[in-house]
Amino acid sequence: MGMFSFFTQEIAMDLGTANTLIIHGDEIVVNEPSIVALNRNNLKEVLAVGKKALLMHEKTHESIRTVRPLKDGVIADFNAAEIMIREMIKMIYPKKPLIPPSWRMVICIPSSITEVEKRAVRDSAEQAGAKEVYMIHEPMAAALGIGIDVEEPVGNMIIDIGGGTTGITVIALAGIVCDQSIRIAGDEFTMDIMEALRRYHSLLIGERTAEQIKIHVGAAMKDLDAPPEDMAVNGRDLVTGIPKQIMVTYQEIAEALDKSIFKIEEAILKALETTPPELAADIYRRGLYLTGGGALLRGLDKRLSAKIKLPVHIAEDPLKSVVRGTGLALKNYQHYPFIMK
Ligand SMILES: Nc1ncnc2c1ncn2[C@@H]1O[C@H](COP(=O)(O)OP(=O)(O)OP(=O)(O)O)[C@@H](O)[C@H]1O
Ligand SMILES: [Mg+2]
Repeated sequence: MGMFSFFTQEIAMDLGTANTLIIHGDEIVVNEPSIVALNRNNLKEVLAVGKKALLMHEKTHESIRTVRPLKDGVIADFNAAEIMIREMIKMIYPKKPLIPPSWRMVICIPSSITEVEKRAVRDSAEQAGAKEVYMIHEPMAAALGIGIDVEEPVGNMIIDIGGGTTGITVIALAGIVCDQSIRIAGDEFTMDIMEALRRYHSLLIGERTAEQIKIHVGAAMKDLDAPPEDMAVNGRDLVTGIPKQIMVTYQEIAEALDKSIFKIEEAILKALETTPPELAADIYRRGLYLTGGGALLRGLDKRLSAKIKLPVHIAEDPLKSVVRGTGLALKNYQHYPFIMK
């Protein structure tokens, strides 16, 4: 091993709308919400990144601004994205190394990304210190991470319900055969919950509280086999303006999410209709694979499999499939045909 390769460090990154994960040396070394807190008077000055920045979110005053650099899977704020990538890479080495390593990086990108957006990802990574940047389409990374043999001449359908988007993709022979994405995913579920509490309880809550509700009592069906306990929720009464607490049931949340989940079901049915018949036959035999944080919604697998009438498998650790797949791509970056320079 020469001097140069010694200092070439490899990382795989899932730069998500909601969460950013990094694999280094086969381990997940960074797993943080995709958010930064910046000095409002100097947007180049970073005050906090990830979990620390999230704690400040919606509680900021005039000199702090929290920013989520990605929207709907792509970079929406270039400056913030660059800062976030740089700061998250720094988290790998808490102590500054004497000689800064030269990074080889595989980073995943939405398959619908435009050339301009791709450029933005590459530029951000390079500005953050990456010397070699490779890219992989997210659904391909998800499939690898789930453990699917993507090179087989067999069709597999992957449904990735992330923060900003739900991607519905058919993969066969190491390529993406069809791919659709809708802007209904975790963030939309969170909005649905805020809206339902406002409408039915006159209760105003913030995004973070709504997200907690989704995680604790979120459901896709009103008759779960293993129902979660009701949850106490604090917010502000819209009528009186003073704080109040209510109890929320999972049935209520299932009702609130029904419309959005219905839209996801419709999109899956439409995707199946446009899948070439031989591949559709494979998918009917094997079933669908669900991944992304949205796959954790209680009863979603059961609801989808009843509606679409085929088996639905949830990835082992849905929040990590994409980064694990990106990590596998990193190991094979010279061999896999779907890795882009
Ligand atoms: N237990 C849970 N139940 C329901 N939703 C959850 C759960 N845990 C996390 N989520 C949601 O999953 C979403 C994040 O998923 P994920 O990390 O896969 O998204 P992402 O990759 O950052 O986004 P994208 O792929 O759209 O860029 C968030 O909206 C989060 O609220
Ligand atoms: Mg994702």
